[in-house]
Amino acid sequence: MQDSRAALFSAVGGTRAGAELVALIQLHLRDVSVDQSTCGLLATKLQLSVAQVLATSEWLNAALRRAHDGEMFAECHGTNCTLGGAGDLSSAVAMLLQHRGISAQPQKVYCLSQCDHGPTLRSGDVFYLAGVHECRAETRVWRCAEDERPVSEA
Ligand code: FES
Repeated sequence: MQDSRAALFSAVGGTRAGAELVALIQLHLRDVSVDQSTCGLLATKLQLSVAQVLATSEWLNAALRRAHDGEMFAECHGTNCTLGGAGDLSSAVAMLLQHRGISAQPQKVYCLSQCDHGPTLRSGDVFYLAGVHECRAETRVWRCAEDERPVSEA
């Protein structure tokens, strides 16, 4: 099994933005189960840490659950993310949603304020930052423009 999984990664290129997400999507499309050892193989292939690949896998699984329940994730198609390869990620995501029978499409947005780390996807309160191969919770407290209080207190 390990050899066949490794062969699936042969077409995955280097450390380009979102490479681990695209590879994980390829596995889902082939109905290959993604466990810790699979993530380890993928991490070695992409020269990423196992923790990075596991976090991306968990983000993807959570995003798919949310999408299945009707909470679609957001895809940034702003300038920085587009230049970084957002189109490739978007195509891979669209194939996976179709494969899962989810007809709703991701919400296209034009900035998620993560430009230095994109292409950026967001599901719930967690960003997937393809440029740095990280998942990061939204922790910023948005401020009221008039008096700088958090918006929730305004
Ligand atoms: S352009 Fe995508 S996060 Fe800003």
